Amino acid sequence: KKILFASSETHPLIKTGGLADVAGSLPLALADLGQDVRIIMPNYQAIKNCEPGRYLCTVRVNNCDVNLLETRLPDSNVIVWLVDYPPFFNVPGNPYLDEAGRPWANIGERFALFCRIIVEVAMNRAYLDWRADILHCNDWQTGLAPALLSLEQERPATVFTIHNMAYQGLFPGSAYSQLNLPGQLLHPEGLEFHGMLSFIKGGLAYSDRITTVSPTYAQEIQTPEFGYGLEGLLAHKQQQLRGIINGIDTTVWDPSSDNYLAHNYTADKLEGKQANKAALQQELGLPVAADVPLFGLIGRLVEQKGIDLVLNCLAEMTTLPLQFALLGSGDKSIEYRLQEFARLYPEKVAVTIGYDERLAHRIEAGSDIFLMPSRFEPCGLNQMYSQRYGTIPIVRRTGGLADTVVDSLPESIANGTASGISFNDASAAALIEAIKRSLVLFHNPKIWRQIQRNAMAKDFSWKNSAAQYLALYDEI
Ligand code: ADP
Ligand code: GLC
Repeated sequence: KKILFASSETHPLIKTGGLADVAGSLPLALADLGQDVRIIMPNYQAIKNCEPGRYLCTVRVNNCDVNLLETRLPDSNVIVWLVDYPPFFNVPGNPYLDEAGRPWANIGERFALFCRIIVEVAMNRAYLDWRADILHCNDWQTGLAPALLSLEQERPATVFTIHNMAYQGLFPGSAYSQLNLPGQLLHPEGLEFHGMLSFIKGGLAYSDRITTVSPTYAQEIQTPEFGYGLEGLLAHKQQQLRGIINGIDTTVWDPSSDNYLAHNYTADKLEGKQANKAALQQELGLPVAADVPLFGLIGRLVEQKGIDLVLNCLAEMTTLPLQFALLGSGDKSIEYRLQEFARLYPEKVAVTIGYDERLAHRIEAGSDIFLMPSRFEPCGLNQMYSQRYGTIPIVRRTGGLADTVVDSLPESIANGTASGISFNDASAAALIEAIKRSLVLFHNPKIWRQIQRNAMAKDFSWKNSAAQYLALYDEI
């Protein structure tokens, strides 16, 4: 099959979160299953780690001349088509924010243009001699593409994957005419959402199939708490809605070959993990101590990730025999409060504000325990990386966290499935209780080793999930 995979970010070319990890690894897994997959994304100035794009053609949409360039995912044959429109994309900043960290003022224009080009390419009107059988869109930035495509005859089948319902691409109603969108799509069953223009609704209302990135999240988004007003539409389309758990790139995230690590290790040679812990403690200026459990956390510092729960636990955490290493960036007030703790408790808390792939790998390897107390989590990748690295995740039982972590209870410990610790309530009290539970387990080396081995033995590769996507493509 010919699959056009549309995403606003793709690892390792550009990444702000898990969407990039998925866009950089699922297409590879589909290609391994014999499919002809092409990725399409904007040609941002900040793109790196790939050959410079080779000029293919110029396509005119909505009075704009847009170039298409071609490159590849590194070390692979998967083609990436870059949508090159310098006034929008050849500027400093990330896909969603300008250099000062403010959302792009013209973010609607940017992704509407991207969607128009996706449609031209999918319909083989861009002179590339390649016509998609399947258009696979991801998140709101690509949501207008299935909507626009619905107006075409003999169009490819469409799949829309929700990576996060909290980001919907909502604009005032006036944006509709400014973006010059066709009138047939503007109604409450289409792109209109309470008088506003909703990009994500384009994906939800007009795609042949909707997926999201875990079975539990697929259920949750059909409720008001997680559906943000779109739960009705999703429940109505539940026959077309699937939850397919993300895989991880097991070559990028492999403790036995990870180049960022001080020492490589496997489940049989866990001493190597100790060396990574010592190296991490040293790098972060924490006392080098093997017997003090080191907690790690990596992520966007936003409400979704439950950082407020962590902040409310930190005072008590500093009274416990543990260390805490955090890497992240996001909400400025959260960043500030975290840095305050690090300043007050330099022997216990190390906070790195920023985006740093090397350090992310070293925290995954060097920590004993990984915190992920998310308020909601469509899938979550770090808890899978953690398990693969023998770092026991503490997670809130929601979304993909519920689907990928088995709580360590007497029964799961006895039957060899325990791989982490989970808790229910989004409260600091529940989190601190889980932390205390992890300390008890940590100080029982025999059981701890077993939980680490269980976690490291789990298969988080794309093999299963890529096959599920293929089966879905076959249906349509
Ligand atoms: P989300 O997509 O909601 O941010 P995920 O867990 O799916 O959450 O994916 C986040 C990805 O981004 C992971 O690969 C994680 O390691 C990475 N990441 C997040 N913040 C940082 C950071 N500050 N530095 C390096 N990597 C980060
Ligand atoms: C989103 C979600 C995260 C998920 C990622 C990749 O950013 O917040 O839970 O893992 O997309 O699907």
